[in-house]
Amino acid sequence: MKRFTALASATVLAGLMFTPVMAADMTVGFSQIGSESGWRAAETTLTKQQAEERGIDLKFADAQQKQENQIKALRSFIAQGVDAILVAPVVATGWDEVLEEAKDADIPVILLDRTVDSSKDLYMTAVTSDLVHEGKVAGEWLAKEVGDKDCNIVELQGTTGSSPAIDRKKGFEEGIAGHANLKIIRSQTGDFTRTKGKEVMESFLKAEDGGKNICALYAHNDDMAVGAIQAIKEAGLKPGTDIKVVSIDAVPDIFLAMENGEANATVELTPNMAGPAFDALAAYKKDGTMPPKWIQTESKLYTQADDPKAVYEEKKGLGY
Ligand code: AHR
Repeated sequence: MKRFTALASATVLAGLMFTPVMAADMTVGFSQIGSESGWRAAETTLTKQQAEERGIDLKFADAQQKQENQIKALRSFIAQGVDAILVAPVVATGWDEVLEEAKDADIPVILLDRTVDSSKDLYMTAVTSDLVHEGKVAGEWLAKEVGDKDCNIVELQGTTGSSPAIDRKKGFEEGIAGHANLKIIRSQTGDFTRTKGKEVMESFLKAEDGGKNICALYAHNDDMAVGAIQAIKEAGLKPGTDIKVVSIDAVPDIFLAMENGEANATVELTPNMAGPAFDALAAYKKDGTMPPKWIQTESKLYTQADDPKAVYEEKKGLGY
């Protein structure tokens, strides 16, 4: 193996120094998934801003939700000889070959917001939240909220095969484990979009006595929750009261819903994944310092008690 590994081993010996420095004169390819959610839009905006502030030439490719487009984009970045690649992988599997190609070309790859099932040797680091923990926080919040009451839960999953869909499901199940009164009665993908969230929620409501049999909705992101809230209202029920709503991301619109009493809780996912990624690249470029394999971002729970109007005002201009 070439330069990448040689520098990597040298810096592992030197310890995990992590000095944020400018990474000017770098060309970085970014393969973004698409624009399925408000959170994704904010991540795109922030990545472009962060690149500009640091004088990085960012080559942006929108994969429109298709892994094959992401693989093509990565190959094109490799052919162009970029200094590094950022990729937000739409699904967790199927990355080995193209990651090997990047490694052979000595181009470090950083995963943003989602993980892959490839060997850790094939990428430099992953900047992500603890996706299992997010789901667990949501589940624990709901268990506490409903107490001893029987509660039938419907779940809107993210994109099938994506790491947040897999991990947020697992985490939520862990969060409600030991509470026999809480049961997931229906679970289906809403692909992280408002439209599908609404569509699938409509089918859940129809199948469950117009929603009378549903006590709570757990959505793997806020956008699906916002779509589902609309479906609940159209079914003549009160979201947030008749059906509790808990989701993940903390996008501005969910705070408006919380302010109106139509959503109950959300777990924040920062859209600034690029900042830590560019810091890691700058340090690597400067003296070969390797970042840890996982740069973990924070996950914070917000409820209606957290002044949702104020949080909405803070977040609304941030690119969501
Ligand atoms: O990978 C992060 C997830 O992808 C966000 O929670 C969701 O909104 C997005 O589509």
